Amino acid sequence: MEAVAAKEFEDKFLEFYNAYYTEQISALFVSYPVKRSLSVNIADLEKFDHELAEELLNNPDNVIPSANSALAKLNPKPDATKPVYARFFNPDTSNAPLLQDVGSEQIGKLLTLDSLVIKRSEIMPKVHVGVFKCSVCGTVVKIDMDRQEAPEICPQCHHKSLRQITEESEFINLQRLEVQDPLEKLKGNVPNWHMEIWLQDDLVNSVLPGDRADITGILRIRPRITRTGKQDKSVFTMFLEAVSVNPKQKEFAELEITPEEEQKIKELAKDPLIFDKLAKSIAPSIYGYDEIKKAITLQLFGGTPDKRLIDGGLIRSDIHILLIGDPGTAKTRLLQSVTAIVPKGIYVSGKSVSSAGLTATAERDELSEGGWTLKAGALVLGSGGTVCIDEFDKISDEDKAGLLEAMESQTISVAKAGIVARFNAKASILASANPKFGRFDRNIYPSEQFDIPPTLLSRFDLIFPITDLMDEELDRNIARHILIQHEAAGAQIAQVAEYEQVEAPPIDADILRKYIAYAKKSIKPRLTKEASERIEDYYTDLRKLGLKQGATPITPRQIEGLVRLAEASAKSRLSSIVELKDAEIAVQLTDYMLNTLAVDKSGRRDIDILQTGMPKEKVDKINTIMGIIKEMEEKEGNAKVTSVLEEAEKAGIDRQTTVKYIDELERSGDVYMPKPGILKVVKHESE
Ligand SMILES: Nc1ncnc2c1ncn2[C@@H]1O[C@H](COP(=O)(O)OP(=O)(O)O)[C@@H](O)[C@H]1O
Ligand SMILES: [Mg+2]
Ligand SMILES: [Zn+2]
Repeated sequence: MEAVAAKEFEDKFLEFYNAYYTEQISALFVSYPVKRSLSVNIADLEKFDHELAEELLNNPDNVIPSANSALAKLNPKPDATKPVYARFFNPDTSNAPLLQDVGSEQIGKLLTLDSLVIKRSEIMPKVHVGVFKCSVCGTVVKIDMDRQEAPEICPQCHHKSLRQITEESEFINLQRLEVQDPLEKLKGNVPNWHMEIWLQDDLVNSVLPGDRADITGILRIRPRITRTGKQDKSVFTMFLEAVSVNPKQKEFAELEITPEEEQKIKELAKDPLIFDKLAKSIAPSIYGYDEIKKAITLQLFGGTPDKRLIDGGLIRSDIHILLIGDPGTAKTRLLQSVTAIVPKGIYVSGKSVSSAGLTATAERDELSEGGWTLKAGALVLGSGGTVCIDEFDKISDEDKAGLLEAMESQTISVAKAGIVARFNAKASILASANPKFGRFDRNIYPSEQFDIPPTLLSRFDLIFPITDLMDEELDRNIARHILIQHEAAGAQIAQVAEYEQVEAPPIDADILRKYIAYAKKSIKPRLTKEASERIEDYYTDLRKLGLKQGATPITPRQIEGLVRLAEASAKSRLSSIVELKDAEIAVQLTDYMLNTLAVDKSGRRDIDILQTGMPKEKVDKINTIMGIIKEMEEKEGNAKVTSVLEEAEKAGIDRQTTVKYIDELERSGDVYMPKPGILKVVKHESE
């Protein structure tokens, strides 16, 4: 009976292929056996034979073998041994289920999942046709291991004596993936559901962790393996045996925007106050922080992507922002609200995230049955979106090294155990850090109160200090803002009809998310002469000031930051040209940062405070102290610490500072103490 059905299906597929796929099939067999797969659009099959398409979706195991054997019959090459595959795909994934909605009802059916790949296993050989031999009577049995379990009893003599002969069995490459729902479908929720995918034969290595793909396959179950390695016969794990894999552009958020919504977005963009309205709609539950919210607004849009330098180098378009400051100032709350509102957002905390969780790694795990699995972390998964990293200062030193690569070149490399891989990590980073000594102190340089190396600090386009100011009016406003929300929420639960309404954000979250996605996808602003002149003037004026004061207030690195910010401002009003007012916004925010964080104790503007961790003022003092020590050594053979302290004091450096810097010079190997209280300069070979 089944054989009849199979023959019937095969004939139908021959007819279907002839009607729809002749060209593709000739092309396929030109490159056979390197190419072995034909992509078949389920919508075409639907047009050709509705019932057959239905049967494919509901009973793929009945249909797919016939589709494959029909295809093999069209192979003009004689004695072809490698199998060919009809790789069915679904052109429309707008209704693809979320993983949480995939359940036992779909077992054995053909499904398409819109997935984000998070892990990829090694390639493992899997038995495809098992050959078994009876050790008692010598009978040989061949088993299709894709459909049947390994037999134990000999069909001839009925002893439990069958042994597999590996040399004669046929193997097929198998690779497992772990996928989750794409970030934009989760809307800031933590992804809880994962699904295992099996890729076989030529599908192997078709995607990397971090990739987005539509994966069509048959939902299957297998017994769970318990910790002791035994099979649990009552609880099963679901996995999808892939029929086709179609990777897609992952840098854009795939949000469905209807023509009406597009109209509304364009309408909003015309409002002259749009930038302020966007900024006010970010984290509406948090009071104040107007500058920070403006900066975050720009970050969500980002600069013009894919710009290249003349030598081909890619220019980063993502804007990185760091918030540093006091505990309890809503930093965490702010990061979480941003995660929830952006089209693609991930929140991680530096305290709990592992290196795999943040960048990418190769790890041994069960997906590879103890072999190496390649795993993508937040920065890879969040490519094209915003990654919020809380407790940035708590990230391990090893991971900070990986972060540096990600923040500047926007890639992450893994080289471990013979695995070499490079991932895209085009995410903008919104980070927050707490000071080492409890509260932020404006009189201490950032590099001294945050465990963040200057190399990393200098990769942020904007850094904002947040201090918990004691101010009666501000305190009252914050308190009111928090309390109104609690009153309103409480009233709603208690179903009280009258309560003070919470002021609604000017733009609601859903349309804001779509507005950003639309701008990122369609608007690529370019600089006008006026805008670039504004940036040029700002830069050269600051440099002139630096020349006068004897410190460097700004470096070329900030020019790129200014351009990114100005481009983002143009994007935020859907403008394809960057105008003077956009440059003004960029200058205003950058200057705010430089003026609060990159000013030394004597009031000089000095970017080295952020970029090297060592302000010019400190470099000057260290040079003075070093000069004193050298001079004394030349005159007297060595330098007494007490004399150095006296001399330095005459040069205007207090004793405490001199002691601290002598200590630093000792640690850096520039001076040493042959005897207590005596200093000598370490002679370097080059001198
Ligand atoms: N400006 C503010 N507006 C609204 N809530 C605030 C504000 N400042 C602090 N809070 C509240 O204080 C609490 C602590 O915030 P949190 O995000 O944990 O601080 P942090 O991460 O900076 O230590 C939160 O419940 C937050 O809502
Ligand atoms: Mg916090
Ligand atoms: Zn036997």
